[in-house]
Amino acid sequence: MVIDAEALVIRKRLEQSLKELPPLPTAVAKVLDETNRMEPDMHRIDEIISGDQALASKVLRIVNSAYYGLSRQVTSVGQAVLILGIQQVRTITLSVGSIGAFSSKGPVDADGMRRFWQHSFATAAACTALCSKLSVERKTADEVATIGILHDVGRMFFFCNFKPTYQKLVMKANQANTTYEYEELHFLGDTHAGIGAIVADRWELPEKIVEGIRLHEGPFEGEIPVEVAILAVADWMNKSYYYDNKSPIGPLADVLIETLGLTGETIAQVGETVRNKVDEASQIYGMMAA
Ligand SMILES: [Fe+2]
Ligand SMILES: [Fe+2]
Repeated sequence: MVIDAEALVIRKRLEQSLKELPPLPTAVAKVLDETNRMEPDMHRIDEIISGDQALASKVLRIVNSAYYGLSRQVTSVGQAVLILGIQQVRTITLSVGSIGAFSSKGPVDADGMRRFWQHSFATAAACTALCSKLSVERKTADEVATIGILHDVGRMFFFCNFKPTYQKLVMKANQANTTYEYEELHFLGDTHAGIGAIVADRWELPEKIVEGIRLHEGPFEGEIPVEVAILAVADWMNKSYYYDNKSPIGPLADVLIETLGLTGETIAQVGETVRNKVDEASQIYGMMAA
């Protein structure tokens, strides 16, 4: 931890920033509600998103980006839901909504945010690929992919509310070969996983998402829920998007490999699938922030 007086000031600012946390846009919260129902209604989702013009146009731009690789132009939200499915549209809507909530607070660190989204979309793609390799049932796979997009929301919170401090801690981590999480604790008194879970909770995201966010950086020991293990492996595979120096990333925890019964070959195959998605993912940030 930093020295006491400084730690206290940071703590106060952290609490204040959490108090001032912008809400998720109403339409995004409604989409989340609808998609959480046992039988979500496609038409209702179309209606909610289409009723918010700014949201609808961003969703369509992203749906039509190279990341999704659709063979024809999608021109309506209804079509997007039909072609990509409710879950993908929910993921895109949540991404747009969360970035909208943070960018409403003023200019953000564009380079940091680009890396953030590249990492987040790559992690979500890795979650989906791992779920498919491990034959995880569809509903869980969809849930894990959503957490994959949002798992580092606490980092976005730090980027937006503690930009100079975060830049300092990134520099320190790169020089000292430590992890960002280690320096977050030192500079800010909490990690992005802890803060992210608070943000997700304030946004009233489902409990599984809140828990996934809270647990995704470990420590990994004992019995680990499969969803968390998949998320953690997917996250680990894509950490290099944040780091200039790969050494602090460290090896994948054995318990994660054992929980999922992973082989080196599976990891390599998933890595290949994700690599093909990453360039496309880097364009998405511009579309969401525009
Ligand atoms: Fe993380
Ligand atoms: Fe991450």
